Amino acid sequence: MKMIIECFLLATIFIVLIYSRSFLDHEFYVNRKIGNPIPSTEISRRKENIGYHQFQNSTRGKSPSRPLTSYVVNVDNFGAAANGSDDTQAFMKAWEKACCTRGSILLVPEKKEYHLKQIIFEGPCESGITVRIQGNITASKDKSDFQKDPKFWIKFQNLTNFTVDGGGVIIGNGHVWWSKSCKLNKKQPCVRAPTALLFSNCTNLKVMLIQIENAQQMHLKFLGCENVEVSNLKIKSPGKSPNTDGIHVTGSTNVQILNSEIGTGDDCISIVNGSYNIRAMGIKCGPGHGISIGSLGKDGDEDQVANVLVSEATFTRTSNGVRIKSWQGGRGYAKNIVFQNIKMQNVMNPIIIDQFYCNKEQRCKLQKNGVHVENVLYKNITGTSASREGVILQCSETFPCEGVKLQNVQIYHNGRNSSASCSNVNVLELGTNTPQCSSKEPGKIRRYRKKRKTKHNQEDNHQS
Ligand SMILES: *[C@@H]1O[C@H](CO)[C@@H](O)[C@H](O)[C@H]1NC(C)=O
Ligand SMILES: *[C@@H]1O[C@H](CO)[C@@H](O)[C@H](O)[C@H]1NC(C)=O
Ligand SMILES: *[C@@H]1O[C@H](CO)[C@@H](O)[C@H](O)[C@H]1NC(C)=O
Ligand SMILES: *[C@@H]1O[C@H](CO)[C@@H](O)[C@H](O)[C@H]1NC(C)=O
Ligand SMILES: *[C@@H]1O[C@H](CO)[C@@H](O)[C@H](O)[C@H]1NC(C)=O
Ligand SMILES: *[C@@H]1O[C@H](CO)[C@@H](O)[C@H](O)[C@H]1NC(C)=O
Ligand SMILES: *[C@@H]1O[C@H](CO)[C@@H](O)[C@H](O)[C@H]1NC(C)=O
Ligand SMILES: *[C@@H]1O[C@H](CO)[C@@H](O)[C@H](O)[C@H]1NC(C)=O
Ligand SMILES: *[C@@H]1O[C@H](CO)[C@@H](O)[C@H](O)[C@H]1NC(C)=O
Repeated sequence: MKMIIECFLLATIFIVLIYSRSFLDHEFYVNRKIGNPIPSTEISRRKENIGYHQFQNSTRGKSPSRPLTSYVVNVDNFGAAANGSDDTQAFMKAWEKACCTRGSILLVPEKKEYHLKQIIFEGPCESGITVRIQGNITASKDKSDFQKDPKFWIKFQNLTNFTVDGGGVIIGNGHVWWSKSCKLNKKQPCVRAPTALLFSNCTNLKVMLIQIENAQQMHLKFLGCENVEVSNLKIKSPGKSPNTDGIHVTGSTNVQILNSEIGTGDDCISIVNGSYNIRAMGIKCGPGHGISIGSLGKDGDEDQVANVLVSEATFTRTSNGVRIKSWQGGRGYAKNIVFQNIKMQNVMNPIIIDQFYCNKEQRCKLQKNGVHVENVLYKNITGTSASREGVILQCSETFPCEGVKLQNVQIYHNGRNSSASCSNVNVLELGTNTPQCSSKEPGKIRRYRKKRKTKHNQEDNHQS
């Protein structure tokens, strides 16, 4: 009952605000209509009056759909102290308010550092809610704060028409977890560390203008989401941090990842089962393991990924560039994939299909089943390889790759042509390619892996 009354009050305030907004718009409109252009100085004066610039600046250039009329729920008003003590309860209370108010903004003010334990921002909520993180949010360093469900630190779930933005920084304090990783110390048991930001079952979601650093494991994960736009993110972790994928997409449809800088200890972007219509454009990747589709088909799983576009990307000193990887014995497919307009700067495996992916201690046996890799275009990919082989297409014997095209791929190694290692694939070569698959005798499967395994090139071990 209390909740209903609160919601009603908030709705009333909101309606009043909406009304004053339309009044303002009306005023502008009337002036224009009588053919009397408003001088630009007058427009700036009015914008100044209504705090337009302040808002613009505070969102760092983002042009918001609801600039002045939204009901702002400031976490400080719910007891967040940003003084080093735990702010989780305050955030939860603020969320309860924001969730029931259409178009509200949950504000995390700038120039402060808030401390959070594990937290779930649970829907369903009203439509059009924004979480605006302007300050910093830091994870608890106490592992027992994650005992209930070690899969995530901050989770957003069951939300529709929802936005996260603000220009702030989300800090995972990952070193507390990394030092215990079995990757870095083989004697330790392998335990899962939390994903910093998990979006689960969200629809019409925007995530923009935030920085995420030193995640416990993955930085950002979309699970079962639809219509997602990610833009202007900065994701930063050391190149040696274990399993710290930048953005992981699983079971999600219509996901766009735009204009973002990602440098981590694992894949900059990884796209796995159940993901369709995924676009990554304007990505700067490095350090890290590149942009990967897969791994697919682990333990005989049937996995499917289709319609992926990676365009206008730059890879700098990553262990892979654009990669498709699948396990022996899997089923399903990775198909309709375009990698284009990409720059490689000293990348270990710039172009790679690896259908013999295996990061287990024992060798993985060759198997009859395999994930189908179909219809893959590599177009206008240029730059340098850190290894001799610029192009590696290692397809399975039982399910050769189909419909693979190279078009104007130019990859050099130490100032000379790089080489290609291609097996079980008929490549259609268009334009001018260096190297060319067709001119090489088939490379030997898996030989390259052994050679390249270095401390900096440890493979990931996702359990998801
Ligand atoms: C916001 O930025 C504009 C220019 O982009 C500047 O003129 C204005 O003074 C700034 N306002 C505030 C409150 O910082
Ligand atoms: C932080 O502020 C809260 C609320 O004002 C107070 O109870 C707490 O003692 C403060 N903690 C520290 C570490 O100063
Ligand atoms: C927020 O995090 C950034 C990046 O780690 C840091 O430079 C800045 O000082 C932090 N600000 C506050 C208020 O803690
Ligand atoms: C989300 O927004 C769209 C477009 O504004 C609207 O049509 C739809 O009803 C909204 N969904 C929900 C659950 O509010
Ligand atoms: C989302 O909400 C629905 C219905 O309100 C609920 O049944 C479901 O369990 C929720 N999903 C999650 C992941 O919590
Ligand atoms: C996803 O969210 C929608 C709306 O919030 C809900 O109706 C549905 O049950 C949820 N599905 C799952 C699998 O949680
Ligand atoms: C792969 O995703 C599909 C949904 O697209 C799902 O039905 C299937 O169970 C998933 N496979 C595995 C092995 O999780
Ligand atoms: C090739 O890709 C580069 C980016 O790496 C881009 O600047 C250039 O315009 C592309 N060329 C063509 C012909 O599309
Ligand atoms: C380098 O590759 C180009 C194009 O594939 C080829 O024409 C040229 O002969 C190669 N150069 C050497 C030294 O192999």
